[in-house]
Amino acid sequence: MENLSPRAGELEAIEIASREEISVLQLERMKWTLTHAYENSPFYHKSFDELGVHPSDLKTLSDIAKFPFTTKKDLRDTYPFGMFAVPRERLARIHASSGTTGKPTVVGYTARDVETWASLVARSIRASGGRAGDLVHIAYGYGLFTGGLGAHYGAEKLGCTVVPVSGGMTERQVALIQDFKPRIIMVTPSYMLSILDEFRRQGLNPRESSLAVGIFGAEPWTNAMREEIEHAFDMHAVDIYGLSEVMGPGVASECVESKDGLHIWEDHFYPEIIDPVTGAALPDGEIGELVLTTLTKEGLPIIRYRTRDLTRLLPGTARTMRRMEKITGRSDDMMILRGVNVFPTQIEEQILKCRGLAPHFQIELTRSGRMDDMTVHVECTLEAVDETARNVSARELTHHIKNIVGVTTKVMVHSPGGVARSEGKAKRIVDNRPKE
Ligand code: DLL
Repeated sequence: MENLSPRAGELEAIEIASREEISVLQLERMKWTLTHAYENSPFYHKSFDELGVHPSDLKTLSDIAKFPFTTKKDLRDTYPFGMFAVPRERLARIHASSGTTGKPTVVGYTARDVETWASLVARSIRASGGRAGDLVHIAYGYGLFTGGLGAHYGAEKLGCTVVPVSGGMTERQVALIQDFKPRIIMVTPSYMLSILDEFRRQGLNPRESSLAVGIFGAEPWTNAMREEIEHAFDMHAVDIYGLSEVMGPGVASECVESKDGLHIWEDHFYPEIIDPVTGAALPDGEIGELVLTTLTKEGLPIIRYRTRDLTRLLPGTARTMRRMEKITGRSDDMMILRGVNVFPTQIEEQILKCRGLAPHFQIELTRSGRMDDMTVHVECTLEAVDETARNVSARELTHHIKNIVGVTTKVMVHSPGGVARSEGKAKRIVDNRPKE
């Protein structure tokens, strides 16, 4: 793989600014954000008043802990436009989350917000090893989801040639990669695996493709998955994080030269980690729920948004801004089996250790009596399809999960293609427990 460390003069000044400079900028921007939210968003005016706090109470960055959290429910309750801090006419763009239950969450951007977002995605692509002039294949979905358009504007801003493929039609994805020869691909890691299968199905060697860098996000994925993809395509696999409520992709990004967690673009977002149960602030280094405050957003400033994503904050390495560790999972996706907490990423890690298994999987939850049961549905590789090989793989995976994760599961090894695929975010948990 190519060495893609940044060249001299390539980084923005703020990316290598001192901690002191970053904190000064954050405090100034946080004060602006609180005042803007309080004065222009009736929702925040009310929630600050109810808690008896005023923007002038913020004297230092840690004073942010005095202010109320914002949750997904707040966005739902004010559906569709009730949380915006500018008149609707000033918004240049609306996005929304699909919302599996209830109403979608709607977010809005002024023209300046769209511009900031593009700059941060451009910064993220550069951190991942992208440069002006690169051909970028975007297979994140376009539409209300922030993935496609967010990546698109960022890649254009960096000066790349963008191929806006969107998700789906996997055969065509491969044909376009073969014909256009992109250097960069932006896609969910699970869909990248489907693209990988399609390469092999067509008898093509993915290691000979033009791809040098994959920028993967929108769902949790492990370092084991990184190794799998990097090896299969002979490319760098870099993590990008974001969420629509806070902006979209580009809130944080790994740097290709270190791949040691994601640098949060702290000039635009202020991160905190809290105990998900008590809401108390936790020190850097401790695992908890990531909470984010936007520092420059005009259309929808967000104060202390509870992401439900579990991670921890670490000091900067390749950049001065702090890192967040690769996300373990969402608190919503945590399964509790016989008292043991389990995340889909832990299962993914164990699957990737078994030679006879492909990393396509779903976890089914059922209930027998008062106990929850878990069945891991996973596919075998083409080399290990016969019954004996499958039985060996099933036993091996059951054993790893029992020994390392600490829970007893059933494992069902399906034929290649036997586990449902997504063309965007993978659905890892299928809950077939009776509704109470
Ligand atoms: O998934 C934005 C995005 C698009 C990020 C493309 C990266 C690439 P939402 O649909 O609002 O936005 O979903 C946000 O997805 O709270 C996490 O739970 C999860 N997520 C996003 N990126 C990562 C990542 C987009 N790199 C939710 N690792 C977030 C783990 C991620 N989970």
